[in-house]
Parts: sequence; structure tokens; C-alpha cells
Amino acid sequence: MEQVSTHYITLGKQLDAILDKDLPYISNLANFSALLWLELSDINWVGCYLINQNKDTLFLGPFQGKPACTSITVGKGVCGEAFAQQETLRVADVHSFPGHIACDSASESEIVVPFRLNGQLFGVIDIDSPKLSRFGADDQIGIEHLVNVLENNLADVHF
Ligand code: SME
Repeated sequence: MEQVSTHYITLGKQLDAILDKDLPYISNLANFSALLWLELSDINWVGCYLINQNKDTLFLGPFQGKPACTSITVGKGVCGEAFAQQETLRVADVHSFPGHIACDSASESEIVVPFRLNGQLFGVIDIDSPKLSRFGADDQIGIEHLVNVLENNLADVHF
């Protein structure tokens, strides 16, 4: 199994320091987006979509970047498909992904990682880049590590 690179290990420690299981999950998701926005190069959007009670639509959650589409049907676009498949989708060229939903015409590549709250599939983390093939296998391992740190700090706490 490939190792998480030192860059992502360091980011994971920073994340663990600012996230807090006693906080509402929305606050943790907001700071997760803010830290990745600051620390990842060549990205133009980072944030999350959260599943509704009917489990058929993802709604826009905390993010950094331009205003984005507010709802995505499960199974549609990169986000909807990653959620439906319950696995990471790493897209080197979004224009060649059938059904890709273009929120920002600057986006060229994208990675989407589903995440859980209390063991239940809860949403996806989406990161877009204006560069083709921005996310390599090492980034996938690193970002999945960060999402794991996030999951360990998420609880069903509401305002
Ligand atoms: N491109 C995504 C939609 C979300 S935006 O990129 C923020 C998709 O195809 O699911």
C-alpha cells in the first residue's frame, strides 16, 4: 500500500488541531474547506455536498471558491456518481467525463471523495483544479487521509 506523503501528513496534523468533535459538523466542514483552500496549490474550488433525508439529492455545504450549483442528484455528475459508488473519483479531464456538471468553466480536473458521519454515508468532498491532471495517485491517498481525519472529528452535533 502506498504511503501518505509528508505534505499530507503535516496537513492532517493541522486539520486535527483545528477540528473538534464537540462542534457542529457544519463548523468542522467549514474549517476543513478553508484549510485545504489555503494549503493546496492549483485549486479553484474546495468544499462539500451533503445528502438529504430522502437520500436522493446532494446539497451544497461549506466551501471556498466561486458560488456553485446548489443541488446534485445522486448518480449525476462526478459528485453524484462518487456518492452512488461510495468511492473516490479522480478525473484527469472533466470535459471527458460524461455528465460532468460545470460550476466554474475554469475547472479542468477534479477529485471527489465520499465521507461518513457516524458510519453513515453523509456527503462528498469535492476539489476542482484549473489544471489538467492536477490530482495524481499520491494526491488521492493524501486527500483520502485528510478526509479520514475529518471523519474522525465529525459528530452529529447541531446548532
Ligand atoms: N463538477 C461537479 C459539480 C460540483 S462543482 O464542481 C463545485 C460534478 O460534476 O459533480
